[in-house]
Amino acid sequence: LLLLLFSYISLISFVPTCPNIPLGERVDCFPDPGASQAKCEARGCCWSPRDESNVPWCFFPTNHGYTVESQDSSILKANLIRMDSPSLFSGEIKQLALEAEMQTNNRLRFKIYDPNSNRFEVPHEHISSLPSNPSIPISSTLQVTQKPFGLTVRRRENQKVVFDTTIAPLVFEDQYIQLSARLPSHNIYGLGEHVHRQYRHDTNWKTWPIFTRDAFPNGPAPAVTYRTIGGLLDFYIVFGDTPEQVVQEFLELTGRPVMPPYWSLGFQLSRWNYTNLDIVKETVERNRAVGLPYDVQYTDIDYMENKKDFTYDKLNYTELPRFADYLHDRGQKYILILDPAIATSKRVGDAPYESYDRGTAKNAWVTESDGKTPLIGEVWPGETVFPDYTNPNCIDWWVDEYERFSKEVKHDALWIVSQL
Ligand SMILES: *[C@@H]1O[C@H](CO)[C@@H](O)[C@H](O)[C@H]1NC(C)=O
Ligand SMILES: *[C@@H]1O[C@H](CO)[C@@H](O)[C@H](O)[C@H]1NC(C)=O
Repeated sequence: LLLLLFSYISLISFVPTCPNIPLGERVDCFPDPGASQAKCEARGCCWSPRDESNVPWCFFPTNHGYTVESQDSSILKANLIRMDSPSLFSGEIKQLALEAEMQTNNRLRFKIYDPNSNRFEVPHEHISSLPSNPSIPISSTLQVTQKPFGLTVRRRENQKVVFDTTIAPLVFEDQYIQLSARLPSHNIYGLGEHVHRQYRHDTNWKTWPIFTRDAFPNGPAPAVTYRTIGGLLDFYIVFGDTPEQVVQEFLELTGRPVMPPYWSLGFQLSRWNYTNLDIVKETVERNRAVGLPYDVQYTDIDYMENKKDFTYDKLNYTELPRFADYLHDRGQKYILILDPAIATSKRVGDAPYESYDRGTAKNAWVTESDGKTPLIGEVWPGETVFPDYTNPNCIDWWVDEYERFSKEVKHDALWIVSQL
């Protein structure tokens, strides 16, 4: 009870420090709907309604976040201790660890995580892990601000600040993580997985998804705020004098992409609902007859038996196993489409759907939270399970199914549809 009382008192006694933070540097403390003065103040944030539509009304004060308790100066390691500021949602993690190292002359990595519990971390199978190079003093690139905790990243050569998280506090709660950074300019590119209306990002308080979950709002400061609902923070910052050098440094880390085959850069024709292979061939002949430059013909999931992966329709696509030869005769290529989801139903004539049965035997499917029951959904073939491509068993299963099917139906490449 004493402990409860104490934390209650410390909660109500928290007073946000709200100096005259410029409009462009106000980082939103209420990204969820329904902000009000009372709810904003309960989060320990500053409330200031404005007429300008996009400036946040509820924003972080200068005394929110974490404070640095200890610090080591070679490879930088520090404990971060949560200050008295209230949480945004609940489940704030009281103690965090920071680890930072210069991995090469031009690459800084920093990671902020919970040292007391393993949280989800994206597997890094393609990131080359290099031993850190202690001859490079990290202090010439990275400075740590103690209270509230913040990181300032500079270019060694001219001490220009390129990434500065002191603009807003770090938020690290069980299901809500947020890190903001002031950037050196509005020239912000990249950050994939959303529709790019223009090559250079519009930084006027925009919010974008990254992958499927993360959000990316920019502030007119210029600044960026990363938000995610789980995991930890793991950043790589690469330096270079030109955009080309930065890309080279990035590829040094991630590896280089495969060189695509020359023919894959040619014109390609794909549609769903050709009805049968004769109509596909009629289409090919029609385009050949008018001399259309055209390298690749596809068949969509209607070549399959009832839209089941690793099968083909033996009535309407009888000749599919030899369709690639027909195209190769005229220097063309054949690509077939596969979908991720796997049907749970039997095949025609109540025959077993062996691809599904073998995957079930290998526990290859995404499961419910019990880690056992396969998660059921509905996609093109009707009721389906979803292969868990992060599971090595699933990868073995998929490669095996693909090898079996490749022996049946000759083809030059696959289009693996990414959306379900
Ligand atoms: C599929 O093709 C057939 C034959 O051309 C056509 O009658 C039908 O409308 C098409 N279905 C769809 C959904 O486009
Ligand atoms: C198979 O082809 C016939 C016409 O040859 C068509 O009527 C039928 O709808 C096709 N079946 C499928 C599953 O597309």
